[in-house]
Amino acid sequence: MQYSFGIIKPDAMKKKLYGKILDDIANAGFKLIGLKLFHLTEEKAKNFYAMHADKPFFNELIRYMCLSPVLCFVVQKENAIFDFRELTGNTDPKKAEENTLRFKYGESISANALHASDSEESFDREWRFFFTQEELFFY
Ligand code: CMP
Repeated sequence: MQYSFGIIKPDAMKKKLYGKILDDIANAGFKLIGLKLFHLTEEKAKNFYAMHADKPFFNELIRYMCLSPVLCFVVQKENAIFDFRELTGNTDPKKAEENTLRFKYGESISANALHASDSEESFDREWRFFFTQEELFFY
């Protein structure tokens, strides 16, 4: 069994899309094992996205991610990392396949509804950023 980590971002939070997104994720066969609302500070956001610090969109990304609380989650499924990336779709909702979450719920490359871990290494770093071991539930 494998795990992945995701974040429902401020655009989707403001539109109250969290229920629909979590429902789509469950219907795609993922089991929710961790869930938390979190309002990122600028410092935390800069740390989480440190690998993008030299990108032209970095400041906008940090400003955007701090606009509202986000919903962080950990899911379980076979091939969870790959399958959750597939379900999430292309970073740019305009380039995403029709049945993906970013196509359905994203607005733009910045406001693209959600984040998904892109590798096991990213997952390992990302879930620890928001959760403790005791906040994940295996059932
Ligand atoms: P995500 O892959 O979750 O994490 C990095 C984010 O940077 C990405 O989603 C996008 O929402 C955001 N971003 C903003 N502008 C760009 C861009 N031009 N190219 C890639 N990512 C971008």
